[in-house]
Amino acid sequence: MKIKFLSAGIAMLLACCVAHAASSENKPSNDWLLGAKNDAKRFELLQKYLRGFDQPMWEVGERFRAVHEALSRDNYELAAYHWEKIRTTIQNGYLKRPARKANADAILLNTTWEEVNQAFGTKNSEKAWAGFEKAKNACQACHAAESLPFMNNQPLFDLSRPSSNTK
Ligand code: HEC
Repeated sequence: MKIKFLSAGIAMLLACCVAHAASSENKPSNDWLLGAKNDAKRFELLQKYLRGFDQPMWEVGERFRAVHEALSRDNYELAAYHWEKIRTTIQNGYLKRPARKANADAILLNTTWEEVNQAFGTKNSEKAWAGFEKAKNACQACHAAESLPFMNNQPLFDLSRPSSNTK
């Protein structure tokens, strides 16, 4: 009787240990970086998670919409603020996709960016909106140059000076 209890106890203990070992191995963990095998694996995970040029462009698109909103309220400082962040975002995108640099520099950042920046700096509605149009054309020219003409057929690129804003 005693032995029977003892062996049952050992069996239970063993089962418990096996279950515990299995659960700590397979348990889903939120430590996707800290729990990775080594730093090489961590960098691989980060590189994958940070994606390519699409994610900076997503931000650029949102900020360009914000430029339009700012100009619509005659807030030229805010427009210039987003315009600056757009440049930073595109340049940071080169870290991930260096092949996009040649066209983005030639079409937007080398000269057009500064012209648009100065147009916003005038705080003159007429000149600022002309700057917005110049920027919009450069965005679209780069998409065409990068073989993404479909990118230009979206409401973002229909944005222009609201008729209520023309004085
Ligand atoms: C290299 C030249 C280049 C310039 C300059 C450029 N883009 Fe892009 N844009 C791209 C490329 C390339 C993609 C597609 C990225 C991909 O496929 O990963 C893209 C994608 C986009 C997208 C879609 C992002 C998404 O995945 O949701 C938007 C929105 C966009 N661009 C807006 C703009 C705006 C606004 C400007 C101007 C302020 C601009 N782009 C300037 C190259 C450019």
